[in-house]
Amino acid sequence: MKKIAVIGGSGFYEFPELGRNESVSQMTRFSDTPIELRRAVLTGRSVFFMPRHGSAHHCPPHKINYRANIDALAALGVDAIIAVNAVGGISDACAPGNIVLPDQIVDYTWGREGTFFDEFEDEMCHVDFSYPLQSSFRKQMFDCLGREGLKVISNGVYGCMQGPRLETAAEIQKLQRDGCDLVGMTMMPEAVLAREKNISYLSICVVCNWAAGICSTKNTAEENDSQVAPLSVDDMKAVLEEKITKVRTALISALTLV
Ligand code: HPA
Repeated sequence: MKKIAVIGGSGFYEFPELGRNESVSQMTRFSDTPIELRRAVLTGRSVFFMPRHGSAHHCPPHKINYRANIDALAALGVDAIIAVNAVGGISDACAPGNIVLPDQIVDYTWGREGTFFDEFEDEMCHVDFSYPLQSSFRKQMFDCLGREGLKVISNGVYGCMQGPRLETAAEIQKLQRDGCDLVGMTMMPEAVLAREKNISYLSICVVCNWAAGICSTKNTAEENDSQVAPLSVDDMKAVLEEKITKVRTALISALTLV
């Protein structure tokens, strides 16, 4: 049976649309406590749901035990992950409320446990990561999100920052020069750990806000000091809340297509 995992990000801690589901606990060597997931069967597929930050968002992005999470999914035999990530928009098309299925990543994180190949043994330890977001679900996910009336962009570069603070306007300008369309805090090392376990990884990015300084790059410093409102987490949550139900419905549609 094909096994797929949905990893929920900010604002996506429960997945009631899964219908009848059971709880699953999976121990890994990366944590003293088991990883808790939900499991349902949809059209002959086992679907696992894992809220990345825990079920009550208790874990900030830089403290998530990404290795335990991905190792648990690998131990359960998962071969495809569809992750949901909240992001800030940098390029024009990535406006708040839009959904982006990025195809590339630039990793700016530091100090996170980012590999299963910590020691040189006989195993090959340099995985190919040229195209980090390849998934057989890309096309059907794009179509199903569109059918929910969401504006979906089929590609983009995700810049992964360390957090948990939001960025400075200068940092976002640097990301823009580096070619990033989106900024978030959670895709790395999640995506590369999945690659190391031979699990495909697709990300659905929900754009919650313009990234820091993006609406004001044409203003002078004085204008910015007096005019620019700080980024509001409440505003971000409101956008997420508005979009996430449709994203969940689209996930169910994509997962039930055979
Ligand atoms: N920056 C980083 N992560 C985010 C943002 C942002 O502006 N919005 C949502 N997640």
